Amino acid sequence: MEKVCAIVLAAGDGKRMRSSRPKVLCEVLFRPMICWIAGVLEECGVRDVCAVLGTGADQVHAAVPRFSWVEQKERLGTGHAVMQAKAFLQEHRGGDCAVLYGDTPLMDADTLQKAYLLHKKEGAAVTLVTASLPDPAGYGRIVRNEKGDVSGIVEQADADEKTLQIREINAGTYWFSVDFLLDALDRLRADNAQGEYYLTDVIGIAAALGRRVCGYQAVDSRVAMGANDRKGLLRLNEIARQAELERHMDSGVEIVCADGVVIAPGVVIGQDTTILPGTILKGRTVIGKNCVIGPNTAIEDSTVGDGCRINACQIEQSRLEENIKIGPFTRVRPNSHLKAGVKIGNFVEVKNSVIDENTAVAHLTYVGDSDVGKNVNFGCGTVTVNFDGHAKYRTVIGDDCFIGCNSNLIAPVEIGAGSYIAAGSTITDPVPDDALAIARARQVVKPGWARARRLRLGPRKK
Ligand code: UD1
Ligand code: CA
Repeated sequence: MEKVCAIVLAAGDGKRMRSSRPKVLCEVLFRPMICWIAGVLEECGVRDVCAVLGTGADQVHAAVPRFSWVEQKERLGTGHAVMQAKAFLQEHRGGDCAVLYGDTPLMDADTLQKAYLLHKKEGAAVTLVTASLPDPAGYGRIVRNEKGDVSGIVEQADADEKTLQIREINAGTYWFSVDFLLDALDRLRADNAQGEYYLTDVIGIAAALGRRVCGYQAVDSRVAMGANDRKGLLRLNEIARQAELERHMDSGVEIVCADGVVIAPGVVIGQDTTILPGTILKGRTVIGKNCVIGPNTAIEDSTVGDGCRINACQIEQSRLEENIKIGPFTRVRPNSHLKAGVKIGNFVEVKNSVIDENTAVAHLTYVGDSDVGKNVNFGCGTVTVNFDGHAKYRTVIGDDCFIGCNSNLIAPVEIGAGSYIAAGSTITDPVPDDALAIARARQVVKPGWARARRLRLGPRKK
């Protein structure tokens, strides 16, 4: 594509969404709608992009920092929004400009590129993407003349009964000759049901001037769908979710039942991995081959090696090597690194720790700010006591240690390789290699004490 630029309309406050966020930051598969549009433009190699922003402009711009932007102070319609970018258009005279709406995130690069090819082939003043929707309610309808050429777009609010029957709708994605668009913007009037400057009127203006108008009908009509309210957003989420699941299944991922399985774009999953219901994978997450993930598992910004079994776990910003078995009900908090063959069981929390190969932490344990060696066995109920109310300290445990049940390891503390910690110990001092540390009061047994008490007070009350 030569001499191309794009304008993305994103100034709407999205009243119908009933959100404190600007509409274009509402998310589809955990990604703001405007970021989907940014991804499409990037994929098409369109780098010169101007966003028209209004409510929450700073927030929106932070989501698409590569875009330049202009402000639309008053929301007077999509045509008025493009008028705000006149200076940007003037810099691109002689070229072509795509205009996209920030609330149609399913638009794809293939459709945008094919519309551009048609636009250039036909030497059109404007080429718009259209789609046939089973339910066209709410969209602008495409009106064609007797020759079948697009002669205009009629908005829902301005349409008569007959026009409302038209199923072909405006996707809100256009290619304009920049020179034509600049001229047409000066001719726009707000004489319609909503008293707005409609960008869609530019199509009628082109047709009336005898300029070439092309309609590129999208092969997959779903690319045209926009979200104006939460129900629309759910519909887009469902379509995008299904498409992602199909992409993974096509590359050899097994999805037994898709209920509650949400995989964000960009997640990588290896062949023959099974994803069970209730699994949410997002961020920069990479899952290896031959894993079983779920049910009821959330993994974000993490790497999981081949052959792992992860059942009912929450994992964030961590790295799990191969053949790890964790869960059910394990929480792995940020900056944890579990090496190959580690086993972590129910009600265990790991945070900011390295756990070396084949170590087992089977139940009810907290491992925080720790460096744990290989082949260590944690008894049930161990706590690395990492925080004194002011600062955090590390616990270091050497290879082959055995940590008895219900032990507290008060950091900073170091347990030498091969050592044993007796159950119920509270360890405050370093333990050398191959030692046994016992840190609890010695047991006292008083023979006959209970019988004497019963005789004195009578039987215990129930
Ligand atoms: C618009 C189209 C309609 C099309 C549909 C596709 C017009 C007049 N109508 O309707 O033909 O079928 O999109 O989804 O263009 N915006 C601004 N400033 C404004 C108004 C809107 O930046 O003053 C932005 C919004 O943030 C949004 C986009 O433009 O991203 C579209 O606006 P919206 O009000 O949602 O238009 P629709 O009613 O959906
Ligand atoms: Ca819309």
